[in-house]
Amino acid sequence: MTGGGDPVAVPRLVVALPKGRVLPVALERLRRAGLEVELSGDERALRHDSGPNTVMVMRNADVPTYVDLGVADAGVVGRDVLLEARSRLYAPVDLGFGVCRISLIRPFGDRAPIRRVASKYPNVTSEYLSAKGSTAEVVRLAGSVELACVSGLADAVVDVVETGATLKANGLEEVDVIAHSSVRLVVNRAALKLKAQRLKPLIAALRHG
Ligand code: PRP
Repeated sequence: MTGGGDPVAVPRLVVALPKGRVLPVALERLRRAGLEVELSGDERALRHDSGPNTVMVMRNADVPTYVDLGVADAGVVGRDVLLEARSRLYAPVDLGFGVCRISLIRPFGDRAPIRRVASKYPNVTSEYLSAKGSTAEVVRLAGSVELACVSGLADAVVDVVETGATLKANGLEEVDVIAHSSVRLVVNRAALKLKAQRLKPLIAALRHG
């Protein structure tokens, strides 16, 4: 038993954030929600401690793994990444930014049968094609996926469309929207119980902007 007046230790909150465009917005939203999160000045540092919190910066596709395995208590990641990871993580808050869609994209006006589809989202693509009864081959690429269509590597691609500028610049068109996406807060279920005093107010504050 602790004596009256002993301070109760505040459990450390570990948050996984994706590097790139989402990072500054995610940090700003977390700060607005009252979480002290500062990156150290060292650009190569991957782990940043500030006050009772730690931020870990990583590739977006790795955020669900860190949160699922409980190395991070919470994370910020696009729904597109969660869908591709077939994640069953608790995702209590839609942060409302990074709004985009995952779409089937083809050269403008092309209606020939699709035999090969390239994507950074092979799982989403396979599930979509199976649901459509298509036996097209799925080819995994790492980026600049639209080039697959432009170069003839594939008849179609499944990729993120945000403004549509990339499609327009490359003579491509969005022929089907597969899923809508935006950036979400994800939370480890065990951490939600063990660190409820830290996570519940954070979730409530993020829900209110
Ligand atoms: C993403 C996506 C598209 C583009 C869509 O690419 O893969 O290429 O943005 O945005 P738009 O509709 O506003 O043009 P990103 O810049 O993340 O690079 P990547 O293609 O190398 O993944």
